[in-house]
Order: sequence, then structure tokens, then C-alpha cells
Amino acid sequence: MPLRFIPALADMVAYAPGLPIELVKRRYGLEDVVKLASNEYPLPPFPEVRDAVIAAIDRLQRYPDGYSTDLREALAAHFGCSPDQVTVGCGTCELLFLLGSVLLEKGDEVVLAEPSFTTYQDVIDLHEATAVAIPLADFTHDLEAMAAAVTPRTKIVFVCNPNNPTGTYVPVAGIARLIERVPDDVLVVVDEAYNEFVTAPDSEDVLALQQAHDNVIILRTFSKIYGLCGLRVGYGLCAPELKAAIDKVRQPFNVNLLGQVAAVEALKHQDQVAQRREANAELRAYMVDRLAACGRATVPSQANFMLVDMRDLCHPHDQVCGTLLSMGAIVRDGHALGCPGWARVSVGTQDEIDFFLRKLASLEVGAPADSEGRTS
Ligand SMILES: Cc1ncc(COP(=O)(O)O)c(C=O)c1O
Repeated sequence: MPLRFIPALADMVAYAPGLPIELVKRRYGLEDVVKLASNEYPLPPFPEVRDAVIAAIDRLQRYPDGYSTDLREALAAHFGCSPDQVTVGCGTCELLFLLGSVLLEKGDEVVLAEPSFTTYQDVIDLHEATAVAIPLADFTHDLEAMAAAVTPRTKIVFVCNPNNPTGTYVPVAGIARLIERVPDDVLVVVDEAYNEFVTAPDSEDVLALQQAHDNVIILRTFSKIYGLCGLRVGYGLCAPELKAAIDKVRQPFNVNLLGQVAAVEALKHQDQVAQRREANAELRAYMVDRLAACGRATVPSQANFMLVDMRDLCHPHDQVCGTLLSMGAIVRDGHALGCPGWARVSVGTQDEIDFFLRKLASLEVGAPADSEGRTS
């Protein structure tokens, strides 16, 4: 007799992350491989974080603090709120699933943009809720249409800002208008995983919106600009009632000891965060310029990645990312992200970007064979 899995699983597919560098090296017999597929920060964590993590290793025989007290207090002090308004998770991804667990039942509706971060759909599917997907307008959230799509059955509205996979940003004033239109018993999730990369001038503060509205949660992560995705720490700023609900369903020690230690230390170094923001913005602009110079369009991004238009390459565009992979440039095929014909490419180091650009150039019309002997 087969196991009787929950019906929701029937239509779900397992998340397929970008391939690890070592595996690509082995598979294609390559020495040089760059990974620009997972929107990671390309440099190691801050030196102070490294020291703090190493110092904590001798405490690994104990469970971590199940309340993540130091981390929640540090985040509360940083954002000027109470620790009761801070919930932490094994990455923001865990918090997304926990939000689904405390809010969603079969038949509930969830409003989200399409395309947006794929995990939202997994959370919806797991609970047999119904996605009300509002197409992006010019690659950007259509917040008016999203607000209009809310019905008495809506439980959650997801706003991803900057949006993954497009990198586009909506000013906070637009999110404020959406929140005003959404009933108090509908949770607005503002997923700001890439917030620290934003350089667009914005006069309003999304955190103030959370303080004014109990039905808003702001999600952020240590995975991106802090360079700590290997330790899996994300957090949410929300009403104490929502944090308390999440506490009932999360596993007891959901943030590991090294993650807690690293995040507390990382938060102290906002000067380095600012430097990384600037460095990312410069390299982002460099990438856009270089791609434009060879006729490749990009979607204006406020994040550490961008969509690159591959549709007019002479190479079949549904094979571009596979071919780049075989040359050692790991990028994300937009097909899997709802953007067929585009590739989502992370902002790497200067060397990594140049490597990618060289491989891409070898696929352009009339390009000479590259060093691996391939032609377009
Ligand atoms: C929009 C968005 N939200 C959340 C996450 C999850 O981040 P993590 O679970 O590493 O905190 C990601 C990761 O890529 C993301 O792109």
C-alpha cells in the first residue's frame, strides 16, 4: 500500500535551487565556475561575524536559546520596536511557511503578484488555498489591482519589494495606499528580503506602517546583504499577537546557535552594510551598461540581481541558460520563474560579472567560438 500523502502535494513540485559550484565543475569538467543564480552576496560575512561564529563553536553541544532573546532584542533596538514584535526563523522562507500555518485553510484566498517569489505559491498550495495572482504591470507590482482583488475570503496579501525575480521596486507610499484599502483582518506581508540594496530615494518608512497597522508584517533576512544565507536567519516585524501565534507552531529551536550569534554581530556593522549597498549599486550599474552595450535589455532593478532579456539571441533562448551553465556561468532560467526568454542574473564580484559577460558574448550572433570551442 502506498503512503497516503496529503492531497495538496499532488500538484506541488520540489524547489529546484541553482546548482552548486562544485557540482557544475564536476559535471562539465570545468575549473572556472561562477554562480550568479541565487541572489547571494558574493563576499564572505563581515570579519567580526566570522570571529563571533568561531568563538561560538565551543557552545554547540547545547541547544540554542529557543527564544532567540539576544537576536530579537538586538533587532528591536535596531528598529525601535518591542522584542514582542520580532519573530525570527530559519530564513525568511520558514517564516513564510509559518504564516501559512497560522492563517491559511482550504479555500482561503491569497493575493500576490505574478511573477513573484515562488515560495508564496508553495505556501498557498500546501494549505489548499487559492492564489489570486495579479500580473505585474511593466514588471512591477500593480498595487491598485491587488487591493481591488481582495474579497471577504482573502487572508493574506503578499507584496515583494524589491520583487523577485524582476528586481523592481514600488515606493512605500504605494504600499501605504494598499494597506489603507485592505481590511484589518487580512495580513499584508511586505517581503523586503532585498531592502538593504535599495538606493531609490523613498521618503516613507515601511516600518512606520507596521507600527500603525497590526495586520502588517515586514520580512527581512540576513541571507542577502549580510552574506549569511549559509546560516539561515530571517526575521519579521509584526504585531505581538502574530508573533505569539507563530510561536505556537514553530519548532522549538528554529534558529540555530551560530545563526543567532552571527546575526547579532552582523547587525552592529551598519557601516559595512552601507558600503555593500554602494558597491552593489555600482556593480549593478556596470552590469546594466555592459549588457546594454552589447544590445541586451535589462529590467531596472533595485536589488542585487536583474532580469536580462535573452529572447533575441541567435541561440535558442530556452537553451541559453543551459549553455551558459555548461560554460561555467550559473544563472537562473527565467522560464522557471515566470519570465520565459529572460535570465535572472545576480550581481557578483567584478570578476564574476566579467566572466558571465564573456560567456554571454560568445552566444551573440556572429560570435567567434569560445575557449571551449562552442559557437552560437
Ligand atoms: C523575495 C524573497 N523572500 C524571501 C527569500 C528567502 O530568504 P531566506 O529564507 O534565505 O531568508 C528570498 C530568497 O531568495 C527571496 O528572494
